[in-house]
Amino acid sequence: MLEGKKILIGISGSIAAYKIISLVRLLVKQGVEVKVIMTSAAKDFVSPLVLSTLSKNEVLADIFAENTWANHVQLGRWADVMLIAPLSCNTLAKMANGHCDNLLLSVYLSATCPVIVAPAMDEDMWHHPSTHRNLELLKKDGVMIIQPGHGELASGLFGDGRMEEPENIITYLSNYFNKNKGRLAGKKVLVTAGPTHEAIDPVRFIGNHSSGKMGIALAKECRDRGAEVVLVLGPVALPAEYAGITVIKVTSSDEMYNACHDHFKKVDIALMAAAVADYKPEVVSEQKIKKAGDATPELKLVKTKDILKSLGAIKNDRQVLLGFALETNNERANALEKLNKKNADFIVLNSLNDGATFGSDVNKITIFTRSGAEIQFDSKSKTEVASDIVNTILDHTKTLSI
Ligand code: CTP
Repeated sequence: MLEGKKILIGISGSIAAYKIISLVRLLVKQGVEVKVIMTSAAKDFVSPLVLSTLSKNEVLADIFAENTWANHVQLGRWADVMLIAPLSCNTLAKMANGHCDNLLLSVYLSATCPVIVAPAMDEDMWHHPSTHRNLELLKKDGVMIIQPGHGELASGLFGDGRMEEPENIITYLSNYFNKNKGRLAGKKVLVTAGPTHEAIDPVRFIGNHSSGKMGIALAKECRDRGAEVVLVLGPVALPAEYAGITVIKVTSSDEMYNACHDHFKKVDIALMAAAVADYKPEVVSEQKIKKAGDATPELKLVKTKDILKSLGAIKNDRQVLLGFALETNNERANALEKLNKKNADFIVLNSLNDGATFGSDVNKITIFTRSGAEIQFDSKSKTEVASDIVNTILDHTKTLSI
């Protein structure tokens, strides 16, 4: 069931680290490619030599070791999933707060793959309010948590906080891959994300503040549910490589339009999350425009092509088309107008009055469907919002029902 998967295991300092020996052995036996990274505290509990022998890969622990600095970015992109087990109280707190003082944490912070953690700690630590706060933060960041069980603890006491057994961790991983696979397996999804830049001259452009986070979260969500994903990504500061996603980097609205039309006929679902510029300069100056005396230059703008509308005009009955509407006033009316004018099946409304801000990690949305439903959601992380959007599409689309 897990054959061919790539799993990156991060071990932090807990007595439960000894269980990872049998976890690695069982995973490798199932045909999983395993790589292991450890904190230095973890090395006190389990030998890197044993783990590298079993995983058939070098075990990495030192952030400053030769070749390791490049690896910390590569590893989170290589893996289908990163599993941090055991997750100690200390590593949990650091992850929740974005600390980056060892290799495991820097891999976690740069990981573009889904992350699962299996906490292990004594009962009192497990029930401490700060542990719960930190776990909530991790959940908001989209991290999945394998709840620890009840049993004998390192302290000799019986209680909660015992890391799940390797066999059960494997069942969790199998369920994770299967559950997600089921929902969008065999489907092709096109996603746009980020802004577009419309050149004025070789050094200037018209752009906007879109960070690309919402579209990237959607692309990852669809990938995690088994879809084949093409992400057409405008110029963003975020990484442009995501494991299991085909990324097409574009700059202008014309390039985004062409990339979307190259792929649209082949896809089942198109999610247009990009903030495409509405206007571009009529003429792009080949040379840098110089200041000319006291005269104020005038820039003549022309409309860009409306990508969503153009896809709405050619979509067939089996294709699902979703657009966004970022509004500051008359939100509902404007969102419904976009739904109709662009022939979309769904419009996701973001209102700047609801606290939506560019670059934020959270979003509050309302989804309008062609069938007339209007579904409001609370403010959530963009990972959770992406999941809500995909669930809504699945719930309201007969052709995608499984
Ligand atoms: N969109 C598009 N191509 C454009 C402009 C917008 O594909 N040239 C898409 C966006 O990706 C989004 C939806 O249309 O999914 C709505 O974008 P928005 O900027 O809110 O609406 P506009 O149609 O541009 O209308 P306005 O700016 O007047 O609100």
